[in-house]
Amino acid sequence: TTITLHPNRTKQISDMLVGVFFEDINYAADGGLYAELIQNRDFEYALSDKEGYDKTWTSKHSWLIKGDQTSFTVDSVNPLHVNNPHYAVLTVKQGETTLSNQGFDGITLKKGEKYNLSLFTKTLAGKVNRISARLVANDGKILAQAILKLGHTNWKQVNASLLPNDNANNASLELTPMGNGTLAMDMISLFPTNTFKDRKNGLRADLAQTVAAINPRFVRFPGGCVAHGDGIHNIYRWKNTIGPLESRVPQRNLWGYHQTAGLGYFEYFQFCEDIGAAPLPVLAAGVPCQNSATGGAGQQGGIPMEEMGAYIQDIFDLIEWANGGVNTPWGKKRAEAGHPKPFNLKYIGIGNEDLISDIFKERFTLIFNAVRKKHPEITIIGTVGPFSEGSDYVAGWKLADQLEVPMVDEHYYQNTGWFIHNQDYYDRYDRSKSKVYLGEYAAFLPGRPNNIETALCEALYLTALERNGDIVHMSSYAPMLAKEGHTQWNPNLIYFNNSEVKPTTGYQVQKLYGQNAGTTYIDASITVSSNQNAVKNRIAHSFVVDPFTKDLIVKLVNLLPIAVNSKIDLNGILPTSVKAVKTTLTGNAADKNVEPLYADQVVSEKFDLQLAAYSFTIIRIKTQK
Ligand code: AHR
Repeated sequence: TTITLHPNRTKQISDMLVGVFFEDINYAADGGLYAELIQNRDFEYALSDKEGYDKTWTSKHSWLIKGDQTSFTVDSVNPLHVNNPHYAVLTVKQGETTLSNQGFDGITLKKGEKYNLSLFTKTLAGKVNRISARLVANDGKILAQAILKLGHTNWKQVNASLLPNDNANNASLELTPMGNGTLAMDMISLFPTNTFKDRKNGLRADLAQTVAAINPRFVRFPGGCVAHGDGIHNIYRWKNTIGPLESRVPQRNLWGYHQTAGLGYFEYFQFCEDIGAAPLPVLAAGVPCQNSATGGAGQQGGIPMEEMGAYIQDIFDLIEWANGGVNTPWGKKRAEAGHPKPFNLKYIGIGNEDLISDIFKERFTLIFNAVRKKHPEITIIGTVGPFSEGSDYVAGWKLADQLEVPMVDEHYYQNTGWFIHNQDYYDRYDRSKSKVYLGEYAAFLPGRPNNIETALCEALYLTALERNGDIVHMSSYAPMLAKEGHTQWNPNLIYFNNSEVKPTTGYQVQKLYGQNAGTTYIDASITVSSNQNAVKNRIAHSFVVDPFTKDLIVKLVNLLPIAVNSKIDLNGILPTSVKAVKTTLTGNAADKNVEPLYADQVVSEKFDLQLAAYSFTIIRIKTQK
């Protein structure tokens, strides 16, 4: 195989091509990226979160009482906040009652790291002057303890710092109020101080670091289907997710569990800033999933038209909250939350994989026109419905053409063969139309987990996305995170449990693209010794130039089960160093969790390179001293 560059045939491509998709699916938020260790800290779990099939899913979920079982009730008479109506009431006798929580599948603790315990309490009757708080290992060993002083009769937050004397994977928090009387408790929280970038109310450091290592140019949030919700009342409302934690509005997650909103818009924007990624919030286009007003097979509908003005105002308020000065009403709220500087919001997604019905069109058009008029500086990303259901895709594109939507969000989950046979998909796109955000995609093998084959198909397809980086502005693999034992969707990019992060080979592909992005694409031609398309289709290349270092980045994918000897002709581009770094991702077809290998590669204007069987190779060539 010979690959010859054409340095005189270049084009500028997007500097935003690889980003990440975050959705609270598979316990990605609570119990996942959000570092809170207590499950159901606010006593707001409700049977309706689980659609009634789990009878334990009540406001007492995850809480156990040691001692008299009748001493623990949940009340809502005089709550801490109207948005957080339920709280625990404990009838206490001589310190004989202990309330405990095992977190999300047990609490994982690290020796020598500090954990902040905080809770709101008030004494309702009698005298309850102290709480003994303990972190206890599975075998009963006390890992840390503290005494918190009480005595107040109005809601007040009390705190303690706990320092475990050992590591533990299955620990629990135990709270034993001391005295005789009745005590109310709410927002019982245990947070590691070692969060990502040490943010308060922050993210799990190891998981956030794994995401950051992709070097994503943007983060899309909060979904996926979570963004448009399962019924009108389940639409994700950003305003419900900012402000003091006790004032946020928790809600049912359409993936069958509970969202505390502890990981809310402020935390998403802060994370984006911390990793140098652009925030990409996706808001419902005034319609829920499948345009189903009540969720499931319910009646079709969207937000009533007379409420759309207020809904659009919420979008304006979001832009002001993100970008407005501290003297604007919403900019002030951002400043009060600890971020006076604007967040520099540039993109907003409207709609997610919706049915492109009249109900949708009417609402989308209203939102699109209003936001475009008031905020021409914001790039609005529309949606063209689910790719596999052709009629919505066609209707979505038709609407985008009519309204001249700057960018549209396409989604496709396809088998490996589709990605191999559709590498020319965007080569055919009309450059005068909307740009594309490939917001959700993944290659899968029916009934099998993702492996190096799916990952190499994605790497292959990404060479085509780079080639089409003049029309494809952004892309994100989906879904990103999945907690072991709570996975509703497969495949995902990064699996994890409470103590380990398990990136897939597909993750390595995203990371290698994110870390080796370029903004100038150089055309190349390839001659393959075989005439068979089945062979030709399985070798792919992309050459881009890093705008900062001016390195020439060579990407080569070999999806064949045999090694391929190739000659690379840089055709006039002269490396300034004969030594380049070669990164290879390779393995047997079914290998999972493959990691990249790094080696030196001798390069010159023309050099030989053997592409290993089933491999993705990147070479960074210096072109400037
Ligand atoms: O990524 C999982 C789901 O796939 C998303 O929530 C939805 O947009 C798509 O159908």
